[in-house]
Amino acid sequence: MKYDLNKSEINYTAEGEKTLGNEVVLLHQATDLTAGRPWEKIGYVIDRLFTDEFYSTFNSTTKELLLQLWRSAGLTLPNTFELDQYHLLASSQQLHLSCVEGTKLISIDSFPVPIQKIEQRISEICNTELIAKNPFDNQSVFHFRVIRPLSNDNNPLHRDVWLEDYANCINLYIPVAGSNSNSSLSIVPSSHHWPENKVERTKSGAVINGVRFNVPAVTSIKADYEIVRPDPKENEVLVFSPYLIHGGAVNLNENQSRISIELRLWKKS
Ligand SMILES: [Fe+2]
Repeated sequence: MKYDLNKSEINYTAEGEKTLGNEVVLLHQATDLTAGRPWEKIGYVIDRLFTDEFYSTFNSTTKELLLQLWRSAGLTLPNTFELDQYHLLASSQQLHLSCVEGTKLISIDSFPVPIQKIEQRISEICNTELIAKNPFDNQSVFHFRVIRPLSNDNNPLHRDVWLEDYANCINLYIPVAGSNSNSSLSIVPSSHHWPENKVERTKSGAVINGVRFNVPAVTSIKADYEIVRPDPKENEVLVFSPYLIHGGAVNLNENQSRISIELRLWKKS
């Protein structure tokens, strides 16, 4: 799969059997939490997260939590450590994988602020009552995503809903450190309304450069398209449909790791 990002050509080869879907639009058989919003057509929006005062609390508790998780995973860190310098300490793949393991599937009980604060705010943005609980398995979790600079840490282009447990939700990307126009999440606008026969992909989880990903990878797009980096700033959140093609967000910064919080919400029943 070859595509342009930040005027650079990105190229990956995903191993394994490929498939092209039919005329079905997965979103049209699901709960569309973008429906009726001004951003329904493109499938994503950047909006303010909290008040300045509350964001300051959120920011410091987020940093404390991440330092604590990294220490538990084996890193030695001073309290003054700049999060975006993570790659200088997690230099071996083994240490990095240990940190990845320790910063995913975290219970929302450990979220840096009460989760109701997020649920309320995103419910306002989507104009419907939402909850951070997956009805598929009753899990309430969030993740830190850490992409080292010029690495293969980022997952390939995909739709989350190719995995069965992410149907009907809305996704959040909250920048934590090193997230900018060279590193933030990449999205193909409006692709949540595409039929499956516009996208060739691997049948199951992709293997790229020997690294296995949970999600299938897009291997070819049969349409004109663009890939954008919406780039939310401090105290902003990127809200996007899991039916959009996204990912493939190579961190093109030379000396900054990109760190974000990933969280999903579903309609409250
Ligand atoms: Fe994803």
